[in-house]
Amino acid sequence: MSSGARISALALALSQFAGAGLPAQWDKYEEVPFVATPQWVIDEMLRTAGVTSKDVVYDLGSGEGDIVIRAAQRFGARAVGIELRPELIEKAREKARQAKVAHKVRFIRADFFYTDIREATVVTLFLLPEINRALRPKLLTELRPGSRVVAHAFPIPDWQPQKFLEKDGRKIFLWVVPGP
Ligand SMILES: C[S@@+](CC[C@H](N)C(=O)[O-])C[C@H]1O[C@@H](n2cnc3c(N)ncnc32)[C@H](O)[C@@H]1O
Repeated sequence: MSSGARISALALALSQFAGAGLPAQWDKYEEVPFVATPQWVIDEMLRTAGVTSKDVVYDLGSGEGDIVIRAAQRFGARAVGIELRPELIEKAREKARQAKVAHKVRFIRADFFYTDIREATVVTLFLLPEINRALRPKLLTELRPGSRVVAHAFPIPDWQPQKFLEKDGRKIFLWVVPGP
């Protein structure tokens, strides 16, 4: 399947679960499919967010952990992935061991709507717009001013990005959390 078709299939599948009631119907998120962000897009996302070794990167819905591992391996950050599916958590931990960054990363099996993300200085997202929308209050209340949120493919509705890139059909959005 081409990457464009994979994104469309993801959007279609995710959209069935992104209706009213978020985040109360948290059990339905278990049906959200896993699609990995390609490595070159991960690098663009982390570069766009200006990630350094001083950052703590949280990937909400971390899948097999590629963003978290790359943030640690290439950018020197400490990084945390939050993921519902246990088999993906296991895979991510194994990949982190192979990449020799297990000491710099952590994978939490949980629903990100109910997980504390206050230590994050950078948050990464590859989720549908309606899930991104439902995350807005959490991002605004838990993240400190100046923290960056970077999304692959789908925007946070009604938030004007500080930066937007489009390359080879992939979209990247960057927002900076405003002051109080
Ligand atoms: C499209 S994949 C993105 C994976 C990874 N972030 C990447 O970009 O390579 C979305 C992931 O989010 C997970 N997910 C969806 N809703 C979640 C929730 N509420 N809490 C934790 N994980 C969730 C899914 O299981 C899936 O693995």
